[in-house]
Amino acid sequence: MRILLYSGKGGVGKTSVAAATGLHLARRGYKTLVMSVDPAHSLADSFALKTSLFDAATADPYAVRPNLDVQEVNIQLEIKRHWQEISSYVTSVLRTSGLSDVEAEEMAILPGMEELSAMMYVNQYRRGKTYDVIVLDCAPTAESLRFISMPTTLEWYMKHIFTVERNVLKAIRPIANKLSPVELPNDSYFANVLELFGKIEGIDSLLEDPQATSVRLVTNAERMVMRETQRAFVYFSLHGLTVDNIIVNRVLPPEADGFFRGWREAQAAVIGEMTGYFDPVPLRQAPLFNEEVMGIERLDRLAEVLYSTDEDPALVTRDERPYTFGKNEVRLLLPFAVKGEVGLFKKGDELVVEVGTLRRHVGLPTSMAALEPARARLEDRTLVVEMRPLA
Ligand SMILES: Nc1ncnc2c1ncn2[C@@H]1O[C@H](COP(=O)(O)OP(=O)(O)OP(=O)(O)O)[C@@H](O)[C@H]1O
Ligand SMILES: [Mg+2]
Repeated sequence: MRILLYSGKGGVGKTSVAAATGLHLARRGYKTLVMSVDPAHSLADSFALKTSLFDAATADPYAVRPNLDVQEVNIQLEIKRHWQEISSYVTSVLRTSGLSDVEAEEMAILPGMEELSAMMYVNQYRRGKTYDVIVLDCAPTAESLRFISMPTTLEWYMKHIFTVERNVLKAIRPIANKLSPVELPNDSYFANVLELFGKIEGIDSLLEDPQATSVRLVTNAERMVMRETQRAFVYFSLHGLTVDNIIVNRVLPPEADGFFRGWREAQAAVIGEMTGYFDPVPLRQAPLFNEEVMGIERLDRLAEVLYSTDEDPALVTRDERPYTFGKNEVRLLLPFAVKGEVGLFKKGDELVVEVGTLRRHVGLPTSMAALEPARARLEDRTLVVEMRPLA
């Protein structure tokens, strides 16, 4: 199964490009699902489905065409399906703090629940071989990052906190429940966490496998949007995901000259810069259409400019992993990070890499676990970290 993940700054055209790609894939015969991971869903609107504004019809796969389903994860429904114990515990705690039932229920939607639910579905469809390709329509960059870092965060929690927490609570519950104003989580809460963890298990290696998952960044030909795209590229690399394509959407066509001439020249300059920055990752362009891209017919037009008829968007075109482990060195593809912004240290058997405000724990292979970072240099768009034995 292939996963194509579309991310990028707000409003650049992620949903439109993901939907158009889904149509093209379905036409080529792939059993395709386009799934929205953005809590502010707009897939149904993009396909102009005849569902009402707040319809839950797309909460489960909804057939748009032969071979093509869409799904918009609905958090209220997911809570009932997957999060019942966790959520009723959090709700009960919040209620003791004076919130009304409705308020407490609203607050008990924890950050990340939506993303995790989406991941459970991806895993479920993979295990059930339900689809050939899943196209993920992500939320703007920052939330997409929460989506991809969720498995690692959860794994960390399970490894370092979960068992200890459960055991400590088991031991102190009889006394603590007398002293504490709030009820402590009970066995069913922990059972729910374990069950959820089982459902997303393996998803991290799926996301980091370039044969399975490719990230495509949608952008516009504007300098500010480009800068966010560069950051997104670094963040995805840092998380071990392979970006294989940059899609520059809404490029002004020549007939836009007149009022937009200056804009068009500026766009051409930005596209030139982008080509250099992202090389060897190829750029693909789509023009600004003279109307909103909404409904299957217009999405098809977008697909036509994005892909030639016999082109296969599911093809693996880049299989270079952002991380590689050489003899006594770790290599990390970081095209535009500047040296001063990169921090490195060792924690347990993990190498911690910091770029700007982002931090990633990289599990080291056993052969390197006894080494620590000695020196780092930027070489041909790659951060090379030399490792030496612990002093
Ligand atoms: N190439 C294009 N030409 C004309 N209109 C476009 C084009 N691409 C997208 N649009 C329109 O721009 C608007 C935003 O597009 P879209 O919803 O795909 O962006 P998005 O990146 O998914 O936004 P969000 O960050 O809100 O999820 C929509 O109305 C869409 O129809
Ligand atoms: Mg969108």
